[in-house]
This record gives sequence, C-alpha cells and structure tokens, in this order.
Amino acid sequence: MITDDKTPIISHQAEGTGLDLEAIRARLIANQDQLKLPLGETLNLLDQLAAFELGRFLLRHRGLNGYWTAYLILQGPHRQDLSPLEQWILHRAPVFRATRERFFIFQRLIQERLRPDMSLASIPCGLMDDLLSLDYSMTPNVRLTGIDLDAETLSQAQTQAAAKANPPAVSFLQRNAWQLEVMAAFDLIASNGLNIYEPDDPTVIKLYRQFQRALKPKGVLITSFLTPPPVLTKDSLWKDTPVEDLRQQAAIFGDIIGAKWQVFRTEPQMREHFDQAGLDVQDIIYDSQAMFPTIIAEKRG
Ligand SMILES: C[S@@+](CC[C@H](N)C(=O)[O-])C[C@H]1O[C@@H](n2cnc3c(N)ncnc32)[C@H](O)[C@@H]1O
Repeated sequence: MITDDKTPIISHQAEGTGLDLEAIRARLIANQDQLKLPLGETLNLLDQLAAFELGRFLLRHRGLNGYWTAYLILQGPHRQDLSPLEQWILHRAPVFRATRERFFIFQRLIQERLRPDMSLASIPCGLMDDLLSLDYSMTPNVRLTGIDLDAETLSQAQTQAAAKANPPAVSFLQRNAWQLEVMAAFDLIASNGLNIYEPDDPTVIKLYRQFQRALKPKGVLITSFLTPPPVLTKDSLWKDTPVEDLRQQAAIFGDIIGAKWQVFRTEPQMREHFDQAGLDVQDIIYDSQAMFPTIIAEKRG
C-alpha cells in the first residue's frame, strides 16, 4: 500500500474532538431566520439525529465514509428496528433514495460490460460493493482494484472481498484519487462519491483526467453527479420529490448537518468537463427523481 497522508479526505471530516451538540444548537439558534423549518422543529430533528449512529456520524463528519455509504445503500434499509427519523432518512430522504437507485444502475451497467480478462477499478472504492456485488461466474480472469484514501475503509473492503465465495483477483491501493499515477491500466473505472464534494471545476476536471489516463484506450468511465435542486434554479430537473420531503432534507442535510456533498452540476457542465478531460460521453442515465444521474464515457483516441 502507498500512503499519502498530505491530501485530505474530501468526503468526510476527520475525527475531531467529538460531537458538540451544544455548538450546533447555538449555531441554529443564531441563524434561526434562515432555517428551512421553524427553530423548534429543527432542534427536535437535531435531537433525533443524535440518537442513532448514522445521525451522529453525519453530525460529526458532515459527509459519508465508505462504511456508511454501504450501510445506507444495502444494509440499513433492511433493518426493522429503525427510529422514525432513521427510517425516514433511509427510505424517504430524496437524495438517499437517489443514491440507492444510482447504485443499482451502476451495478447493471458494469455487469453488462463484463468480459473475461478485464481489469476493473473502483475509485474511491469505499467498501467496493459496486464491483464485489457483481456476478463473475461467466467472466474468468477478471481483476479488480479498489483505490481509496481512507485506511480504515480499505481494510473493511479487504475483509469484504476476502469473505466472497468465489472472488475474482482483488487488490487495493491507498491513494489520493487526484494522484493516481496509474497509466492505461483499466478497462473500466467506476467512480461514485468524489465529484459531489468538490466545488472547484478545474479540480474535478483534473480528477477526470486522472481517470482518463488510468483507462486503457477505449476504456470506460462510469460515474455520477448531483443535479441542482429547485431552490438553486428554476430549471431544476428534480421530479417526484414530495415538497415536505425536500424541506425536511434541506433542514437536515443543509441547516443542521451542513453536508459537504452539496456540489451540484448540470448535464452540459458535465459534458464540458468530460470533453476537457478527453472523455467522450456515451450515455447519461437519469434516476427516477432526475437527481443523481449516471454518466458513461469512453476514453478518447
Ligand atoms: C461517499 S464514499 C463513496 C464510496 C463508494 N464509491 C460508494 O459509492 O460506496 C466516499 C469515499 O471517498 C473516499 N475519499 C475521499 N477523499 C478521497 C481522495 N482524495 N482520494 C481517494 N479517496 C477519497 C472516502 O474515503 C470514501 O470511501
């Protein structure tokens, strides 16, 4: 494993001094004029969030690591013992519904493209469910590479990979996605959960260039992006999202948590960024809420 401690993990804040609920409460009271919901309701949601582990992780880290991303997509929704707010977050929060739908779109697209002898990468891999959950029984000699900056996440992904009955060859690299230093190695890269944390356009284009260089000629990148919500633009594509769910989502992830994943881009912006990175867009598949589309692109040339 190669360690790069200099670059921060952008998806979630590193361990701090702990969860300071009083400081969050004071901030909400100070900004009560700008809250999406009345102060009393907002403070009540804060108390409810602090009562379950996912809520506490979000309050402390303002984002999701590999473990909690996997939990909200695969394990959490099957639990029967959820508090009402965790139940709402896992089953109704529009952005998490979209996250789950996107996961299954990725799964289908990657499965369809699997061929014998392929080399696939997941960057950032998190627990690597995107690749580890696929069926490799008809595609011998596939090699998988998981790349992530978080050592704890990589160790959990390693444990998951080892527990698979007939796993393909899997290796892991602890590396910053902006400094991959990998050339023409992969037939396919799956990437979910980095660009939504990075607001600077030249910086995300650099990330796509890294992916482009790491792909073999005609290699395929499958990634995702969050489209702008109705509060940011009248041209928002979001649909089938009940107004009360949108308001509660904005209160929880915006006002209370201040989630870092709130970087939104339009399809034309994504096409422009990919073009600058030497990637030709083949298709864009929208989820049912048009919130978290999947973009498929091929390495140019
Ligand atoms: C929201 S999770 C997504 C994980 C996985 N792709 C998925 O969809 O389940 C974000 C992941 O990005 C990783 N990460 C954050 N900053 C990174 C960086 N600069 N380079 C590589 N990985 C990074 C985190 O450790 C975390 O596993």
